[in-house]
Amino acid sequence: MRNKITVIGAGHVGETAAFNIARLELGDVVLVDILEGVPQGKALDSFESSPIFGFDSTVLGTNSYEDTADSALIVMTAGLARKPGMSRDDLFYKNLEIVEACIREATEVSPDAVIIMVTNPLDAMCEVARRASGFPRERVIGMAGILDSARMRAFIAMELGVSVENTHAFVLGGHGDSMVPLARYSTVAGIPITKLMPHDRVDAIIERTRKGGGEIVKLLKTGSAYYAPGLAIAEMAEAILKDKHKILPCAAYLEGEYGISGTYVGVPVQLGRRGMEKIVEIALTDEERAAFHNSAESVRELIEMIPVAAG
Ligand code: NAI
Ligand code: 2OP
Repeated sequence: MRNKITVIGAGHVGETAAFNIARLELGDVVLVDILEGVPQGKALDSFESSPIFGFDSTVLGTNSYEDTADSALIVMTAGLARKPGMSRDDLFYKNLEIVEACIREATEVSPDAVIIMVTNPLDAMCEVARRASGFPRERVIGMAGILDSARMRAFIAMELGVSVENTHAFVLGGHGDSMVPLARYSTVAGIPITKLMPHDRVDAIIERTRKGGGEIVKLLKTGSAYYAPGLAIAEMAEAILKDKHKILPCAAYLEGEYGISGTYVGVPVQLGRRGMEKIVEIALTDEERAAFHNSAESVRELIEMIPVAAG
């Protein structure tokens, strides 16, 4: 029997994720949205591309959670996206209500699913989903680090004129302006970027990575990024559903790792069929640790704003 994957939210990110999950034949996809006709139309359009791509996954669009029952994976993208001048945190209260309601409905009919959270502000919405689902931390993980690292990799490749395939980037922390791109662990063909370009260029890449989401919002004017986010979700979905034990940067609920407890924050996570298999701890310098703890503290401040009812 094939996996069932629910994607909640048929907007830009949801449709891109659904399409790529289907294209990778990770299972049959169910796309849910409150808008009537939109998930149905986008699902049909995706499925009509299957003869050209040659994939056999089905894509169903719906407004009902009944169709999502017994999903192995729930991808939560519903909510408002950033507009110019809006921070990810401005989205907090509106998206909190949406996440709480959608996750309750989806997990009621798919109690064994793994949840990939995407809605912003990402780290805080992961906590809303963890509480609303009552799932263990292993089954509620957030997508952000793959996207932030992909942006950093793209900027490194542009700077050095090398293949993106040669690049590796390492970004820790919350999905916000306080994220911590680690130059020391970011490499080209295994060589740290600090040995390949002057300090000021490394600093410029770090700064552009931190502001990467905002850069796209400013250009688009009516929404935020979706190609790279949609593919980042598909990479996480593949690691989970194919039980790959793949280490990827994800938002995880820390219980003492890195000296932090009771908050979500981006760390390297090993993903497999059960969701998060383990959190990988790496040695940080004092400066890196301070930046990481500062980023986790910004997430904690937001988490403290979640009303008790969302628990
Ligand atoms: P969008 O506006 O294109 O789509 C959002 C969709 O959610 C719409 O189709 C809307 O009808 C639907 N929706 C709203 N309330 C709903 C409900 N109660 N039930 C079901 N569907 C509902 O937005 P886009 O670009 O797809 O972004 C979605 C979210 O993902 C935003 O919060 C955005 O900030 C976030 N995001 C997070 C990223 C990350 O790295 N974690 C990257 C990119 C976006
Ligand atoms: C991004 O980083 C908006 O969080 C989204 O593109």
